[in-house]
Amino acid sequence: MPQGAKVMETIRIEDAPHFVGQKVRLGAWLRNKRGSNKMQFLQLRDGTGFFQGVVAKEAVGEDIFAKVKALTQETSMYLVGTIRQDDRSDFGYEMDVEDVTVVGESEGYPITPKEHGTDFLMDHRHLYLRHIQPFAVLRIRNTLIAATYEFFNKEGFIKIDSPLLTSSAPEGTTELFHTEYFDTDAYLSQTGQLYAEAGAMAFGKVFTFGPTFRAEKSKTRRHLTEFWMIEPEMAWMHQDESLEVQERYIAYLIQAVLDRNQYELDLLGRDKDLLKSYTQLPYPRVSYDDAITLLKENDFDVEWGVDFGSPEETFLANHFNKPVFITNFPKEIKAFYMKRDEERDDIVISADLLAPEGYGEIIGGSERDTDYDYLEERIKDMGLNVDDYQWYLDLRKYGAVPHSGFGLGLERMVTWVTGEEHIREAIPFPRTMNRLKP
Ligand code: 4AD
Repeated sequence: MPQGAKVMETIRIEDAPHFVGQKVRLGAWLRNKRGSNKMQFLQLRDGTGFFQGVVAKEAVGEDIFAKVKALTQETSMYLVGTIRQDDRSDFGYEMDVEDVTVVGESEGYPITPKEHGTDFLMDHRHLYLRHIQPFAVLRIRNTLIAATYEFFNKEGFIKIDSPLLTSSAPEGTTELFHTEYFDTDAYLSQTGQLYAEAGAMAFGKVFTFGPTFRAEKSKTRRHLTEFWMIEPEMAWMHQDESLEVQERYIAYLIQAVLDRNQYELDLLGRDKDLLKSYTQLPYPRVSYDDAITLLKENDFDVEWGVDFGSPEETFLANHFNKPVFITNFPKEIKAFYMKRDEERDDIVISADLLAPEGYGEIIGGSERDTDYDYLEERIKDMGLNVDDYQWYLDLRKYGAVPHSGFGLGLERMVTWVTGEEHIREAIPFPRTMNRLKP
């Protein structure tokens, strides 16, 4: 190559704005195409964006033009051409194509541009990931994951990893996946919390972030059998401080998506001003008692002591138009480890954070009780085996301190932020009661 000659850049679609007027090479897949005998408009994607390649017969000649006209959906190829700004196109940039080299052919791609039903798309999830909606949703998911690590690192938390094969059932025994474990039994983890509590006593502020399994027999738009949960646990922290961490965390996540995912939010048609309004803190705090009163005043048929269902959660969050903390739930509907209220024996120092727009509970958390005898009693009351929790009770024996924590369901957060209808869209390969494939 002569000295000073410029090597042609291989770019990604998202880089196009930096290469206007330059000849570049791009690896992409064909989504769709239209055109005439003189021009072909190629809808291209490469995982970073969607844009159009324009092929003029006059510019490329008969042979290449004929090749382009025969291209089929999802063929992969290298394209060489010049990037042009075009304000009429959705993306704002296009490529005037000079050459096309097919890399992988594609015949009979099943997800055609026509409308398909949900089951069909979920059966073809391994291919559907290539399409606009999963592209936008899962890139926002990626931002939420990255921003989670950033936030907790900034706030001085250590990430500790909890085991997924466990011998205990801290969130109750009805939703457990059982498996054989050599000559004994094991359960897939429902929560990393108990391990996070051990971590908090060792490192102060910790978080776990991993897959969580619940044999939920509910076919709702909010339940997966396998989901990812972020569980921070803070030593020396009471519940009111924990609520402050929670709202700061949620606001940080939303701001990160607003800063980094304008393109994806626009592809999904998500209202960015509405999202921005959720970064205004603090979020309202409403006691369970007051929530029951409010629901009764609004003709809900609820009695003190019931857990809220989707209609109640939707009403409460919409009533405040913001995420809202419902605090101090009845003891009997919550997990064994939650701290008793000093003045009332029937409630625990807990809170659920409800998202507005009908998305319901996204966080569950509490202060943890520190009394050995009380916890041992509660474990027995719940029908759990004390032997399985002996190590956990040790944490109360050796220098127990006030501590609080919470769990955010990643896919609930993704569903809300992206404005999707159903939680199955919020994870690459969803697992639900009736889906184990692909
Ligand atoms: O309220 P949960 O059951 O709380 C716990 O597991 C505690 N150990 C958390 C803690 O204090 N460390 O679950 C926490 C969150 C829920 O608010 C929800 O966002 C999500 O986990 N979640 C689910 N997400 C998807 N599918 C399911 N089946 C879910 N169950 C809970």
